Amino acid sequence: MKSYSIFFVCIILGSSLLVSAFSAEEKKLITLTPGESCISASCHAAMGKKKYVHMAGVDGKQCHRCHETIKEDEHVFKIITLITKPFCEKCHSEEFPVSGELKKELKKSPPVVISKDKDRKLHTPFAEGKCTECHDAHESDFYKHLKFQYPEGLYASFSVEAYTLCIKCHKGFDQALLEPRTLSLTLFRNGNRNLHFLHVNKTKGRTCAVCHHPHGLDNFALVRDNVPFGNRMLPLTYEKKDAGGKCATTCHRTAEYDRYSPVFNMIKTSPLPGTDATVEELKRSREEDLKRQAEKAQNPTGIKDSKEESFGHGDKTTNEKKQEKQ
Ligand code: HEC
Ligand code: HEC
Ligand code: HEC
Ligand code: HEC
Ligand code: HEC
Repeated sequence: MKSYSIFFVCIILGSSLLVSAFSAEEKKLITLTPGESCISASCHAAMGKKKYVHMAGVDGKQCHRCHETIKEDEHVFKIITLITKPFCEKCHSEEFPVSGELKKELKKSPPVVISKDKDRKLHTPFAEGKCTECHDAHESDFYKHLKFQYPEGLYASFSVEAYTLCIKCHKGFDQALLEPRTLSLTLFRNGNRNLHFLHVNKTKGRTCAVCHHPHGLDNFALVRDNVPFGNRMLPLTYEKKDAGGKCATTCHRTAEYDRYSPVFNMIKTSPLPGTDATVEELKRSREEDLKRQAEKAQNPTGIKDSKEESFGHGDKTTNEKKQEKQ
C-alpha cells in the first residue's frame, strides 16, 4: 500500500508550468491525496485529449498499471523497454482472461489479440512483443491507437502517407506502391506487373489489411485466411508457389502470379502503364531476386530502431528521439 500512495506524488515546476517534468532543476515534490488523478492542470495536462484515448492508459488514476516507481519519494519510474507485451498481455491475451476486480474496473472488454497458439506465423515486431512500435500506449489521433497513419477498413484512396505505419519499418516500400512495373521492388508481381501497385494505388485502392494481418496469421507473408467484410468473414485461400502464388477469394476469380513466367488471368483490370518485360529480362530478374534474398537473409528489414534497448521518461517522445537519429 505504501508504494502505491507514493505513486501519487507529482512534480510541479516552480517557474513554468510546462510538463517537462523531468528536468533535474527546480523540482518540487507534491503529495497528492490518494485517489487523486495524475492528470491535472499542472501535471500531464496534455494527456487524454486525443481522438482515441486508451482507457487502460489514460485514466489518471491507473498509470501504475504500467509505470512502476523505483525510488520512494521521487517521481522516477522504471524504464519501459521496447518490449511492452508484458503490460499489454495483462488485458489483451487469451492466456490471461480479464476477470475479478480488473473486469469490474474496465468499462469495456479489451479485445483479445495475443493467442495461446505458439505455432502462428506472427509479424516479427508483434512476435517480439514490441507493441508500442505501432500503438501508442496512452492515446492517439489514429484509429486503434496507432502511432502513425494507416487506413481504416478495406478501401482507401491511395497516398503514400496513408501507409506511413508500414513504411516506417519497410523502408523503400513506398517505391513498391508507386511503380506500376518492377522487376525488383516486390515479390508480389506477375512478370513485371506490380500487384501491390495494381491493388493499392488507385482511388478505390485496397488497403494492406485486405491481404495482410498486421499481427500476422497462419500464412506465409502474413497473408490472412479470411477478410472481415461488414459482419462477415470472407475466406481467402492463398497458396504459395515456387515463383509466385495463387489466390482464391470472393474479390475476383482465382488468380495466379508468377514472377518469371507471367500467368494470364481472365480478370478485367485497368491497363497498367509500361510494357511487359522480355523473356531475357525475366530470366535476369530471377538471378537478381536470388541475390537480393541472400542479402536480405544477412540483413533483414532494417529496423535498427528496434534494437534500441530501453528508454525512459523524458521531455521528448521516443519517436521524436528516433526521428532525430535518422
Ligand atoms: C498500458 C500501459 C501504460 C499506462 C497505463 C500508462 N503508460 Fe505511460 N507509457 C507507457 C509506455 C509503454 C511508455 C513508453 C513510450 C512508448 O513505448 O510509447 C510510456 C511513457 C510515458 C511517459 C514518457 C513520455 C515519452 O513519450 O517518452 C510519460 C510521461 C508517461 N508514460 C506518463 C503516463 C501517465 C501520467 C499515465 C497515467 C495517466 C500513464 N503514463 C499510463 C505505457 C503506459
Ligand atoms: C488494464 C487493462 C489493459 C491493459 C494493461 C492494456 N489495455 Fe489495451 N485496451 C483495454 C481495454 C478495456 C480496451 C477497450 C476499450 C477502449 O477502446 O479503450 C483496450 C483497447 C485497446 C486498443 C484499441 C482497440 C479498439 O478497438 O480501438 C488497442 C490498440 C490496445 N488496447 C492496445 C494496447 C497495448 C499496445 C497495450 C500495452 C502497452 C495495452 N493495450 C494494455 C485494456 C487494456
Ligand atoms: C506492425 C504494427 C503492429 C504491432 C507491432 C502491433 N500491432 Fe496491434 N494492431 C495493428 C494494426 C494496424 C491494428 C488495426 C487492425 C485493423 O483494424 O485492421 C491493430 C489492432 C490491435 C488491437 C485492436 C484489435 C481489435 O479487434 O479491435 C489491439 C488490442 C492490438 N492491436 C494490440 C496489440 C498488442 C498487444 C501488440 C503487441 C503484442 C500489438 N498490437 C502489436 C498494428 C500492430
Ligand atoms: C516495427 C517495424 C515494422 C512495422 C511498423 C511493420 N513491419 Fe512488417 N515486418 C517487420 C519485420 C522485422 C519483418 C520480418 C521480415 C523482414 O525482415 O522483412 C516484417 C515482415 C513483414 C511481412 C512478411 C514478409 C515476408 O516475406 O514474409 C509483411 C507482409 C509485412 N511485414 C507487412 C507489414 C505491413 C502491412 C505493415 C503495416 C501495417 C508492416 N509490415 C509494418 C517490421 C515491421
Ligand atoms: C491483394 C493482396 C495484397 C495487398 C492489398 C497487399 N499485399 Fe503485401 N503481399 C501480398 C502477397 C501475396 C505477398 C507475398 C509475395 C510473394 O512473396 O510471392 C506480399 C508481400 C509483401 C511484403 C514482403 C516484400 C515483398 O514486397 O515481396 C511486404 C513488406 C508487404 N507485402 C507489405 C504490404 C503493404 C505495406 C501493403 C499495403 C500498402 C500491402 N502489402 C498490400 C499481398 C498483398
